[in-house]
Amino acid sequence: MKKLAILFTILLFISCKKEEAQKENLYPETQKTAEEQQIELGQAVFEGKGNCFACHKPDQKIIGPSIQEIATIYKEKNADMVAFLKGKADPIVDPSQYEVMKTNFSITKNLPEEELKALEAYFYSFAK
Ligand code: HEC
Repeated sequence: MKKLAILFTILLFISCKKEEAQKENLYPETQKTAEEQQIELGQAVFEGKGNCFACHKPDQKIIGPSIQEIATIYKEKNADMVAFLKGKADPIVDPSQYEVMKTNFSITKNLPEEELKALEAYFYSFAK
């Protein structure tokens, strides 16, 4: 009789664990990493108040270089995009067109540090 009680307890324990695992699968959005959330914020700023998408596309040059090109060069050179967006670092991608990009510093200089870092993370998510 005692053995039966122990067996029953074990079975109950196992079925509880199973339910927990199923619950986690039901809510996958709670499993987003901090990095994924940062990239999403970056994309929101890029497409929203930053207005960056007007001149930058993921993989093709329009008015500005593609996000992919910028990210790849910044990664290679280990450059500081946040400093650039604050107007505190020289252009390294296409210095001949710097004047066009410079007009955006009136927007980027007023963005909180968190959003500048998010923009950087969004760019880096396209790096090769
Ligand atoms: C009016 C068009 C325009 C808009 C809007 C624009 N850019 Fe640019 N961007 C450019 C051009 C042109 C270049 C190439 C010149 C250069 O490299 O500085 C550039 C270059 C860059 C670079 C590379 C800088 C380097 O080191 O050479 C980054 C990073 C960048 N843009 C980020 C952004 C972000 C973030 C936004 C939105 C807040 C944005 N841009 C909005 C035109 C634009």
